[in-house]
Amino acid sequence: MHLTDLSLVHFRNYDTQSIQLSEHVNVFCGENGQGKTNALEAIGLLAIGKSHRTAKDKDLIRWDEEQATVDGIVEALHGPRRLRLELGSSGRKAYVNRVQQTKMTDFVGHFQVVLFAPEDLQLVKGGPKERRRFIDVELGQTQPLYLHHLTNYTRTLAQRNKLLKSGGIADDAYLSSFDEQLSMYGAHVILRRLRFLTQLQPVAHQVYVDISEGREDFNFRYTSTIPRVGLDMTVDEIAEQFMRGLADRRQMDMRMGYTTVGPHRDDIQLFLNGQDVQSFASQGQQRTIALSLRLAEIDFIYREIGEYPVLLLDDVLSELDDKRQRNLVLSMSRKVQTIITTTSLFHLEDELTSDARLFQVASGIIT
Ligand SMILES: Nc1ncnc2c1ncn2[C@@H]1O[C@H](COP(=O)(O)OP(=O)(O)OP(=O)(O)O)[C@@H](O)[C@H]1O
Ligand SMILES: [Mg+2]
Repeated sequence: MHLTDLSLVHFRNYDTQSIQLSEHVNVFCGENGQGKTNALEAIGLLAIGKSHRTAKDKDLIRWDEEQATVDGIVEALHGPRRLRLELGSSGRKAYVNRVQQTKMTDFVGHFQVVLFAPEDLQLVKGGPKERRRFIDVELGQTQPLYLHHLTNYTRTLAQRNKLLKSGGIADDAYLSSFDEQLSMYGAHVILRRLRFLTQLQPVAHQVYVDISEGREDFNFRYTSTIPRVGLDMTVDEIAEQFMRGLADRRQMDMRMGYTTVGPHRDDIQLFLNGQDVQSFASQGQQRTIALSLRLAEIDFIYREIGEYPVLLLDDVLSELDDKRQRNLVLSMSRKVQTIITTTSLFHLEDELTSDARLFQVASGIIT
């Protein structure tokens, strides 16, 4: 699939801006702080419904303005899709083919992107939250049902936590009714995550082998706060196990005032040659792992939906000094629509820029 048109109104440092993209390689070139990442952020927003940089819509609206809109036209296997997102102080409105969507979860999934950004290193170096986000974004883009379960889970979790925090848990049965709902939604979330990682594993492993010339063995594993959950279990079995976990932790949860067990606390453990990467992997190895996970995503999306996502490369090519890493990323740009940001065209290979569409970005104006 590819994005053919992008229009921004009062998004970040843009006033009114419309561009037409090439279905192959697009390069956004400009000095620091001109709006290159902002443009990629807008594209990501159309796909994922979330910014990769902020959770607050207010940050996305041009200062002194009330509302921002992002419009895009996506050419996909089954025809064109018009996506529109209106951000305002009173909330969001999202449209697919001019039809307003009642929930954001209905908006997500019509357009797939894979974004490489300098922040990707956090996938390896950062806390569990970053890695959960990686899974959630990926599954959310390709599996509407996953988002549905996750949203229900998060809502129920917030209600349970509120009850725990209020301290007024005289009513045991009331809390138990939350436990039942939470464990059912949570079990769906966990099972889909386990399946996803199992599919991603061989691809990421192979990409890592390609980059490192087989010197290291990269693996990962979903580590749940709920003991003994696995792919060989049914949703009901996982839910049962989760219920048990909640019961075991009830005293603790009451003391802490929040829920200490469940997929919202789970993590992915990353290993190189069987050892935990967080404690020993070098900077270069960490970067290679992050890259392998992202490249594996492209393949995963292709398998899930039958077409390639759009590849967004924010400032990363200049960072890739390793020839193999560059080649791997560049070979992708032959298969998929690619949108690259850079401060200088010197950082890019001639081969890449010769047939690319070039955009200059300066002070929120793209030409
Ligand atoms: N809500 C907003 N309203 C107006 N301007 C904003 C808003 N949010 C960010 N900006 C401005 O956008 C600019 C940053 O844009 P962006 O992150 O896209 O830069 P960039 O071109 O990617 O730069 P770099 O090469 O350093 O990554 C900054 O000048 C910032 O002040
Ligand atoms: Mg930037």
